[in-house]
Amino acid sequence: MTDPAASSTKPRVLSCMQPTGDVHLGNYLGALQPWVAGQHRNDAFHGIVDLHALTVTDKPGVVGQAAVELAAMFFAVGLDPDVATVFVQSHVPEHNQLGWVMECTISFGELSRMTQFKDKSAKREQDFISGGLFTYPALQAADILLYDTNQVPVGDDQRQHIEITRDAALRFNHRFGETFVLPEAVTPAAGARVMSLQDPSSKMSKSDDSDAGCVYLTDDPKAVMKKFKRAVTDSETGPDSVRFDREIKPGVSNLLEIHAAVTDRTPQAVSEEFEQYGALKVATGEAVLAVLDPIRERYNELMEDRGELARLLKIGAERARGVAAATLERAYTNIGMLPA
Ligand code: TYM
Repeated sequence: MTDPAASSTKPRVLSCMQPTGDVHLGNYLGALQPWVAGQHRNDAFHGIVDLHALTVTDKPGVVGQAAVELAAMFFAVGLDPDVATVFVQSHVPEHNQLGWVMECTISFGELSRMTQFKDKSAKREQDFISGGLFTYPALQAADILLYDTNQVPVGDDQRQHIEITRDAALRFNHRFGETFVLPEAVTPAAGARVMSLQDPSSKMSKSDDSDAGCVYLTDDPKAVMKKFKRAVTDSETGPDSVRFDREIKPGVSNLLEIHAAVTDRTPQAVSEEFEQYGALKVATGEAVLAVLDPIRERYNELMEDRGELARLLKIGAERARGVAAATLERAYTNIGMLPA
């Protein structure tokens, strides 16, 4: 097996996903599909960020199982372990170490402005809101900066976290000298913000109130078709009613964008093929299933061989540590920490 991290001149790409429940179509179109598409032209690192999942974990035995399932999904969608480095965040302790440095580099005010914290803490109003939920973007900044990352392929909802990472890198470099590469967010042309099929004004999310609005990659085909057939649209009729206009027609536009993302076209091009919502819903469900069917099969196969998954994750962690340890060392040296 070659070591892709060893002497690559390709752009360094890093992106991660939380092992908190099943992967949905928004995760796939906003992140996984672009990761797979980019793995050959980039030097790609993809993390299963189990430490981030601890912000909302309060039961034993859940995170590890979710991490191995997410690893199987990363490989099932097509990440090639010979090409991309796939690792579990807690296997690379430099994330915690640089995470603390980042907490001391990002201000309380900056963390307070994070919309994801405001949304998530509002949703958990009656629940336990951990300090980690608040400081989470500092750990995310560490995830990114540890790998000298040039590009972070993410969905739209992560843009603010990449911005705060850039600000942290700039501040650190200003205080302690050139240390970190400035990363930029990259979002896909179609699929950067997949909306709920039941409420197209809110993004598709694991914490959706209704399961009917969220398509999971492991849903059985009947369930997927049912969700698409029941997708909320609007009451307009006529041959021109199928058109892409996110403001005025959020439900229809969401279907067009999903369809476009799985068939590698533009939403406008897809809209020209349809005159009725019913036909659009069925065709979109079928186009999505054409992509999900083989993924589901590979996922089930991979989950049969835990030993192989563990082996691949061990190799990934070793490669990741090779890069992360050097960056942490550079940061400590530039700060002027007393060597151990
Ligand atoms: P997470 O685990 O919530 O989501 C993983 C990826 O899926 C994208 N995504 C979506 N894209 C389009 N439409 C949607 N409805 C949708 N829902 C989710 C997200 O934008 C993301 O790209 N904080 C991150 C995890 C993280 C990370 C990192 C990402 C930790 N460290 C370093 C990049 C780099 C998160 O919670 O993503």
